Amino acid sequence: MIYELLTLFLHWKNLDVKKIMANKKFYIETYGCQMNVADSEVVASVLKDNGYLKTQDINQADLILVNTCSIRENAEQRVWGRLDKFRQIKKGKPELKVGVIGCMAERLKEKLVEKEKTRPCVIGPDAYRALPSLLERVESGQKGINTILSKEETYGDIIPIRAAENNISAFISIMRGCNNMCSYCIVPYVRGRERSRDPQTILNETQLLAKECFKEITLLGQNVNSYNWEHKENKTNFSKLLDEAASKNPSLRFRFATSHPKDLSDEIIKTMAKHPNICKHIHLPVQSGSSKILKKMNRKYSREWYIDRIDAIKKHLPDAEITTDIMTGFCSETEEDHQETLSLMEYVQYDYAYMFKYSERPGTKAARVMDDDVPEETKKRRLNEIIDLQTKISEKNKLKTIGKSFDVLIEGTSKKSEDEHFGRNSQNQVVVFPKDDEKTGDIVKVKIDKTTPATLIGKKVQF
Ligand code: 5AD
Ligand code: SF4
Repeated sequence: MIYELLTLFLHWKNLDVKKIMANKKFYIETYGCQMNVADSEVVASVLKDNGYLKTQDINQADLILVNTCSIRENAEQRVWGRLDKFRQIKKGKPELKVGVIGCMAERLKEKLVEKEKTRPCVIGPDAYRALPSLLERVESGQKGINTILSKEETYGDIIPIRAAENNISAFISIMRGCNNMCSYCIVPYVRGRERSRDPQTILNETQLLAKECFKEITLLGQNVNSYNWEHKENKTNFSKLLDEAASKNPSLRFRFATSHPKDLSDEIIKTMAKHPNICKHIHLPVQSGSSKILKKMNRKYSREWYIDRIDAIKKHLPDAEITTDIMTGFCSETEEDHQETLSLMEYVQYDYAYMFKYSERPGTKAARVMDDDVPEETKKRRLNEIIDLQTKISEKNKLKTIGKSFDVLIEGTSKKSEDEHFGRNSQNQVVVFPKDDEKTGDIVKVKIDKTTPATLIGKKVQF
């Protein structure tokens, strides 16, 4: 009787009883950017539809997946270390399947297959729909490999299973791939050509999340602001998509990442200014302050163009937080080029920056035709100077928030104290304040009275 009831319930939910009864468990580890986090959620959805349940306990897993990143050498090193660990677990549990998915799977297919002699499973970022059939092959003792890149795949029809447990914030991936071919970057080789997802599927997903009482959505893409959908008479660019998403979902607030400076139009900036529910934060990777280096990087903008975009943001969105990525020690970078990066940082006054040393990636244009000629010691010293300057600027900017009030979306309890909420303001700054009668998911006005290097600390404003 219970079996029949369960069968009926699963049938109603459109799930296959045999697959569910098989009750296999998968464990997934995700490295790299937010796109990878979103992809792991797509993978979880594909697996769930095929009878796998998610587990947080690696020892319970019948399948371990590692979603990988290739952006820098050290990102790959970390994954090799984890794969050694998984191989150890597999020794004591021969039926365990271990799969490498994502960017490293794409870049290092042969090497991964060679290392994983028994039943290798290697799946590139555009092949996640094939996961169940590849796993069946692995189960029957064969290789499960698919690293074919697609010109169309956007996973637009797959509703991801969200990884975050609080059901407050969600990612929606709106485009994939990159056509920019920055000379240092491996992304176009491992993620393929740029393609945008049907706007209707994006808007449907936003509305579904609003119904499920989510509060914040981050629209994601390798170059989110070059989103462009053209199909018959339907033409939607990023600004139009953002405008529609924000208008149709007043209960949600929207973020987006990552923007390319060359595609940051006035139209996008004005759309941000128009909607209170579009968060006032722009992540705008600059990489270098020197036009000569930007040209070598094939970034398709100059120092002057970048400054013009920053001026436009400051004009239309005076309270916006601006963050960036900076890479130091790229091929032929001189001391003068480095000084130009420092002076640009002074000009923009970034609130936060992700700062890296250039790491040569095999197969990129820079690796093929340029000399990685800045000595490691010089790269380290320049990186330290950049970090020191950014630390000072971030601290100064944080101090300016004292006395100001922000709408804070409560995301959970502060790690440091059970008695305090932790959340973020529209600018994406972390805010901590004492608990009263509010709950996670509420938006509360908080007045800041002190800061630490990473956090704003305040109190709820009583009306
Ligand atoms: N070396 C160092 N940093 C890199 N990035 C991309 N490629 C490389 C590389 N080869 C950085 C850029 C990019 C961020 C995601 O990673 O700053 O914006
Ligand atoms: Fe890489 Fe440049 Fe594309 Fe960003 S825009 S993913 S840095 S090639």
